[in-house]
Amino acid sequence: MELKNDLILRAATGEPTERTPVWLMRQAGRILPEYRAVRNSVSGFKELVETPELASEVTIQPVDILGVDAAIIFSDILVVPEAMGCSYEMLEQRGPIFPKTIQTLDDVKQLRVDEAHYQLHYVYEAIRITKRALNGRVPLIGFAGAPWTILAYMVEGSGSKTFSKARKLLYTSPELAHTLLDKITTVTINYLQAQVEAGAAMLQIFDSWAGILPPTHYREFSTRYISRICEAIPTVPITVFAKGAFFALADFAQLNCHTIGLDWNSNIAEARATVGNSKTLQGNLDPCALYGSFDSIRQETIAMLQAFGPTRHIANLGHGVYPDTDPEKVKCFIDTVKEYSSKINTP
Ligand code: CP3
Repeated sequence: MELKNDLILRAATGEPTERTPVWLMRQAGRILPEYRAVRNSVSGFKELVETPELASEVTIQPVDILGVDAAIIFSDILVVPEAMGCSYEMLEQRGPIFPKTIQTLDDVKQLRVDEAHYQLHYVYEAIRITKRALNGRVPLIGFAGAPWTILAYMVEGSGSKTFSKARKLLYTSPELAHTLLDKITTVTINYLQAQVEAGAAMLQIFDSWAGILPPTHYREFSTRYISRICEAIPTVPITVFAKGAFFALADFAQLNCHTIGLDWNSNIAEARATVGNSKTLQGNLDPCALYGSFDSIRQETIAMLQAFGPTRHIANLGHGVYPDTDPEKVKCFIDTVKEYSSKINTP
């Protein structure tokens, strides 16, 4: 099926675009009352994730309501550890917990690997339904967590400010960590490949807990595995978003990916100088900027667009949109990107 809006794919591959494409990390769920209505009609978050028709419905909501240039499939990065045999619970207002965590080599040995991605058939079905329903309006983005971020949850057992149990493991049992990362990487590659087969036109790898590692550990325990994923899937553009990993940008420039996501702490000009011109950059407005007035949102967004320039940029926030953000403010960000970039981009 032909895509009517392929701006994000063209921006990812460095082609000129008549304007800068825009979408928001965590746009599905969180902010829209229409999402909460669907969410309240089911028993919990997991039922929504595991019901393809509903997951598809909330995936498309931001395309209809906000006018973004891409949809991201509604799911969670934690479905991967669950498929491996480490299931999670999503507590209201508190986030995820894992009743059983990974502590020993024996725990790692018991994990499912080769067959694991078949457990996630509901994600592939949600992608197929969404692709049909989108009818070529915008591309659909598939995603997974980076192996390091997934390890962090599997070892820690919940969210944490410091993830010190997970970081401790890298000093006390580096071999166990590598064995676990290797398994997560294999499952993630199979999972992302199946998402592409189902209809994902682009992929994003979320390394949400990149910024808590020292640079040497990050290279050894994260970039290496992200690199393996990028090498294994050359068929669609991949975005690597590693929050807090400004120190890894020079390494990321060598990855076989098209786009690098920047968080709001990144200096845009420095990031561009480090990465070079052969990759697209995505980001990076501070999600808190959307609490400002409409005027200030316009100003901040225009300053961001000027700093990135008219090509090789996908406009986004520097991390997921915060749950209590006014959808009208989100729309102001999106509309400003569309209007202002149409003026400065020459196709
Ligand atoms: O981008 C999208 O809108 C698609 C859906 C999506 C969700 N989670 C749905 C979700 C995506 C891409 C994710 C990724 C994810 N999940 C990450 C990486 C991105 C990031 O923000 O750093 C991480 C670390 C998780 C793990 C996770 N899931 C946490 C810590 C929590 C609780 C707090 C929170 O972020 O809301 C979740 C729950 C979750 N995942 C919700 C949604 C819509 C809220 C739960 C609900 O509706 O009850």
